[in-house]
Amino acid sequence: MTKALFDAARGETVSPPPIWLMRQAGRYLPEYREVRATVSGFLELCYTPEKATEVTLQPLRRFDLDAAILFSDILVVPDALGADVRFVENEGPKLTPIRTAAEVDRLNETRVHEHLAPVYETLGRIKAELVPEKTLIGFAGAPWTLACYMVEGGGSKDFAQTRLMALREPEAFAALMGKLERAIAAYLIRQIDSGADVVKLFDSWAGALSADSFARWCIEPLARIVAEVRSARPQTPIIVFPKGAGVRYAEAAGAIGADVVAIDPPTPMAWAAANIPANVVLQGNLDPMALVAGGELMNRAIDTILDAASSRQLIFNLGHGVVPQTNPEHVAQLIARVKQPRT
Ligand code: CP3
Repeated sequence: MTKALFDAARGETVSPPPIWLMRQAGRYLPEYREVRATVSGFLELCYTPEKATEVTLQPLRRFDLDAAILFSDILVVPDALGADVRFVENEGPKLTPIRTAAEVDRLNETRVHEHLAPVYETLGRIKAELVPEKTLIGFAGAPWTLACYMVEGGGSKDFAQTRLMALREPEAFAALMGKLERAIAAYLIRQIDSGADVVKLFDSWAGALSADSFARWCIEPLARIVAEVRSARPQTPIIVFPKGAGVRYAEAAGAIGADVVAIDPPTPMAWAAANIPANVVLQGNLDPMALVAGGELMNRAIDTILDAASSRQLIFNLGHGVVPQTNPEHVAQLIARVKQPRT
C-alpha cells in the first residue's frame, strides 16, 4: 500500500503534493475542545492514550489530510527528565529552571522510556486505527529548543538566560544538551518501533541563536540525532524544522542531513527552492494567518507556494501551527486547492 506523504518524504515524486498541517489537532476544532474539557490539564491529555489517540484522529475524520501527527508536546521529554512541566491556563508552559551544573546533574536519564510509555502506547493505538494510505508522524523537540524552555523555566521572547548560560557556563550547558540529545534520539527510535512512519524534529527557537553559536547548538546536535536515528532505523524519513534560521536555512538543510526541511513563513519558498540542496524535500510554508483569512487571499498565497516549489518535491504545510481562531472550513478549502489538478 502506498503512502503518499511517506513516499514524498523519501524523495519520490508525488503529485499533487501531499499535505498535513502543524497543530492540525487543537483548539480550533470543537471536538478537540470537548475532549480537552474532560481532563484537568493539557499534559493529562498527552499521557492518556485513549484520549490522545482520539484527538490525533479527529482532523482526519473531517479533512482529506495525508498524515496524522501524534498528539503530544515537545515538553514531555523535559518532563521525563524531571523538569516538572506544568501547563498553566492562559500562561503557557512552566518548568523548574535548570541553570547550574548541579541542576543539570540531577536530571535523570534512566526513567525516560518508563515516563513516556503512554506516548508509545498512543502511537500503537493510532497505527491500529489509521488507514494504510495515511502516514503517521512522530516528533520531538530539538535539544536547543528544549534547553530554552528548561533554562528559562518557561517561554520567553528572546531566551536571554539560555543564550547567557551557553556563553558563561559552557560545560554545564553542554552537559544539558548532551542529556537532551541522548534522550531525544532514543525517544524517536522508540516512536518508530511503536508505529511512527516519519519523525520530525522541531527546533522552534533556532532563530534565537547567534551567527557563531548556530552550528554548535542547532546544526551539530541535529546532525548527530539524524545520523543516530537513521543508522538505527534507515527506512524512516526525518523532517527538521530549524525555525527562524533565515539565511542559514541552506547550510542547515545540507549539514543536518534530514530527508525533509520545514520552511517557516518569513522564508520565501522561491529562495528555498533555489538555495536548499536538491536532495532535500521542502515542506511548508503557508502563513497561518492566510489560513485564518481564507478565501481569495488564501488561494493566492497557496498558489505562490505551489508555483515557487514547482521544480521540487513539496510537502504542503503551514509555516507554523494552526491558530485557535482558524475557521475549520478554511482548512477544507486549503486542502481542496492543493489537491486540485493544475495546468
Ligand atoms: O501538531 C500537532 O497537531 C501535534 C501536537 C503538537 C502540540 N504541540 C500540541 C499542543 C505539537 C507537534 C506541538 C509542538 C510544540 N509544543 C512546539 C513546537 C512547534 C512550534 O509551535 O514551534 C512547541 C514550541 C511547543 C510548546 C508549547 N505547547 C507551548 C508554548 C504551548 C502553549 C501555547 C499554546 O499554544 O497554548 C503548548 C501547548 C499545546 N501543545 C497545545 C496543543 C494543542 C494547546 C494546549 C491546550 O489545548 O490547552
